[in-house]
This record gives sequence, C-alpha cells and structure tokens, in this order.
Amino acid sequence: ILPKRPHLDNASNITRTDASLAYPSTAGITRSPAIPFQKPQSLLTFSYSPSRLLEFNDSAMRYYAEPPRRADLRHGYDRWIRRPEEKGRLDGLLRAIAKIGSDKEKEGEPSTAWLKDVGIVSWRGVMTKILIAPYEERDSWELNIMLLDGTLYLEEHVSDAKLHEKNNIPPKQRIQMYYGYSFESYCTSERPPNREHYGRIPGWGGDVDTNVQWCCVAKTKLADTRIIIGGEVDCVRERFDGTTDSFVELKTSLTIHGPRDEARFEKKLLKFYFQSFLLGVPEIIVGFRTPSGEVSTLQGFKTLQIPRMVRDKPGSWDPQLCLEWGSRFITFLRENVSPSPTGGDTPYIWRASFTPKTGVTLKRLDQSGVDEVVNEEDRLGFLPSWYINESMA
Ligand code: A3P
Ligand code: MG
Ligand code: MG
Repeated sequence: ILPKRPHLDNASNITRTDASLAYPSTAGITRSPAIPFQKPQSLLTFSYSPSRLLEFNDSAMRYYAEPPRRADLRHGYDRWIRRPEEKGRLDGLLRAIAKIGSDKEKEGEPSTAWLKDVGIVSWRGVMTKILIAPYEERDSWELNIMLLDGTLYLEEHVSDAKLHEKNNIPPKQRIQMYYGYSFESYCTSERPPNREHYGRIPGWGGDVDTNVQWCCVAKTKLADTRIIIGGEVDCVRERFDGTTDSFVELKTSLTIHGPRDEARFEKKLLKFYFQSFLLGVPEIIVGFRTPSGEVSTLQGFKTLQIPRMVRDKPGSWDPQLCLEWGSRFITFLRENVSPSPTGGDTPYIWRASFTPKTGVTLKRLDQSGVDEVVNEEDRLGFLPSWYINESMA
C-alpha cells in the first residue's frame, strides 16, 4: 500500500506563553515552491579525546578503510569504553563558535559580528529530528529553546528519567547499538590510505571508545534562516581538504530479504539522508548485517541521489515536504519565542514538544521547569555563563 503523503497544515494558535503548530496532515497534497537549502560549508573541525577533552585539532579524524569480508560486529564488545549519556547540552558547539569568533578577531573582525545574522544554533541530531517529524510515527521529542541576540539555541531536552533509561539499556539492545560502532572500527583507520587497501589490510581498526569523536561545525541556510550546525563525522575518504566533500557516514542495517524489508529500509533512508544532508556529507556506506552481527554486504549511497531512489517506492518520502515543514517550524519559533522581559534578566527557556501525528506545542517554562533543565551552576538558562558573557562582549 502506498502511504498517503502528509501535507502541511495551516493551523497555528498563537498566545503569549504557549502556542502550537499542527502536524502536517494527510488531508491533501499541495505542491509548493521548493524551499532552498544552502550547501553546508565547514567552518571548523574539532576532536574529543579519549578523556573527553575537546581539542581544536583533527586527532579523532579517521580515514575510510575497506572492512574485511563477513566482519563479526560482536568483536571487542567486552572492551567497549562507553561514554556516559549526557543531557543534550550545546557546550561543545558553543566552544567551537567562540573559537571561530576569536579566530575572526585575530583577522581584525569583531568576534561576534558573524553571529548576528545566524538564526539557529544546534546539533545536527536536533535538526534531523525536526526535519523528519512529518514522517515520524513513533518517537516524540522535546527541545529546550532560548533566544539570545536574535539567535535561537536549540538543545534536546533529556529528562532525568530518559537519561537514566539511556544509561541502562537492556543487554540485547546494547549489543545491537555496539554493532554500529564496531562497524565504524572495521571501516576506519587512523592512517591515511595507501593505494591497495584504503589505509591498511582489512581488519579491526581498534577497540571502540565512544568518547572519541571527530566533529564538524558547518554553516548553512534553510529558506531565509542561517543555521550553524555541529555534528560528528565518521570518517573521510583519502584526505580532508577543509571542506565537507570527503566526509563519509557509516551505517549498519539488517540485510534486506524481501519487499517488506526493502520498504522498511527505504523509510530508514529518510533519517540517513537528512543526517548527512544537513552536514554536507556526500556519501553514506551501509553495512548490511545479519541479526547476530555478521556483515554480509556493503552498499554505498550518494546522499543527494537518495530521494530519487525512493521516489514512488512503497517506503517513499519527499524531502521537500520536510524542508517545508522545517521552515515552517522555524518561523513558528521566531514568531513565538521571546528572550527575556528585560535585557539583563535571566533569559526565558521555552519548550517545544513534538507528538507524532499531532504536531508541536510550545510553552515557556515556569520556574520549576527551568529548575529541572538547569541543575548545574554557571549557566543562564541552559547556556553556559561564559558563552553569554562572551557573546555580549
Ligand atoms: P548505526 O547507525 O549503524 O546503527 P551514527 O550512525 O549516527 O554515526 O551513529 C553511530 C552508531 O551509534 C549507530 O550505528 C548506533 O549503533 C549508535 N546510535 C546512534 N544513535 C543512536 C540511537 N538514537 N539509538 C541507539 N543507537 C544509536
Ligand atoms: Mg557517527
Ligand atoms: Mg554513522
């Protein structure tokens, strides 16, 4: 059965401290003019070390390496060094933004001037969730939002209960999660490739330590909104030239055995697509695996070609609809989120809550809500004080 394509609804009720934006309904289909999305441009890359130190270098960058045949993804599971789950704080991204500012200052530009026309700052994972919401049928999400100097800051709201859940994943799910990281190890090398073997004799690339991450901060533009987005990049092909052109995203997925699996996979491609698209990652390599973690085949995808591949297929989706929704969501935030009653006061925190098939509600948090979000010192709202002081300077 071909699923009906959702379409964007006009309904939005606006009040002072709460508002809602209806879910794109399936009531009808309209073709609207294409929403432009600018090719992401890399501004800065940084690394997290094994001790989770943020360093402005590429020490955590990895090169793509051909994985061995029939790689066993369970390998090294008991040696997995697992980064504890965190709240969705923007701190790492904000440090990168401050670094970009101080680099500009050295070149004679005021350090915060470039942020003036930036509409949104967030992690790539948050932007992906927003854009794929029209097709999300199961998982809800919540964001904390602040408006500072005309820029919206979006972090995922991870409640204490959810954090506890994420840190206590049942063993069966935990190993499935490990398969993804293990695949990354088989597919990457610390050393640049040589002609024969993309880096090394195919094999294990080293035990998994999820503290270690290589991240890229990119700027892009959705419709009229400039966006600064940060996200992890799995590896590069051949060499890194400062652009996103050599970035590679690695994914695992269950081997496809029939039309139903195929439709399921094509649905999953929506997330793969936007995750990579948002950071300008041009290539996705999928390792298809058995349920018990043996890689059976590899398939490479050109990110920009994915929408054409799924068009008119059973699991199909339309990326334009997502961009349209995303643009509408941003406008909705712009129209409703306010910074604080007066300049000097503690900024407001707003909460956007998405419910699948229903839509988004937005409310300003009261004191108890704020207390739940901010339980550390040296923050104004959920942003670190040093960042606010610096960006006001
Ligand atoms: P897979 O995507 O191959 O399953 P990413 O693909 O974004 O680089 O993430 C690397 C791996 O982290 C994933 O590999 C998966 O194992 C794990 N992971 C990422 N996000 C996850 C989530 N929301 N839930 C469970 N595991 C996740
Ligand atoms: Mg990754
Ligand atoms: Mg990946």
